[in-house]
Amino acid sequence: MTHAAASQNLSHPAGDKKELYAELARQAAGLFEGERDLIANAANLSSLIATSLPGLNWAGFYFLKEGELVLGPFQGKPACVRIALGKGVCGTAALRKSAIRVDDVDTFPGHIACDAESRSEVVIPLLRGNDLIGVLDLDSSHRGRFDDEDVAGLTELATVLMRT
Ligand code: SME
Repeated sequence: MTHAAASQNLSHPAGDKKELYAELARQAAGLFEGERDLIANAANLSSLIATSLPGLNWAGFYFLKEGELVLGPFQGKPACVRIALGKGVCGTAALRKSAIRVDDVDTFPGHIACDAESRSEVVIPLLRGNDLIGVLDLDSSHRGRFDDEDVAGLTELATVLMRT
């Protein structure tokens, strides 16, 4: 299957993806209602994402602890536990405090391969005001799995989590 065909199978008809993310944001807000524990809420959000979005092989969190990213709740194969700021896609997004979308992980210098199957990746920083709390990281075994609508939708989900 070509890369284009692979990503077409995973994309939704125009508008649908936006709606899917809006629905996920509503579901996330419902799951977090009355609960302020960040680990518990992040665990439920990683499950919601992994069971709702097609084509993922890893979805989860790293939290900033004593100057480095430490593995948090996730769905997928076991992953590297600590990532220094500025290292890999996660550490780079964390340092920049901005989202990074990588269509082909082989082209990202310093990409950290936790699961050899991963071909594309998106990392969204978790911010409270200007403070870095951690990152949300999604991997796919398909090249070019993520687009700008994914970045926007996942950024909204990260914002919902940071409001708890
Ligand atoms: N690929 C990431 C490491 C984390 S795993 O994908 C779960 C990176 O380059 O930062």
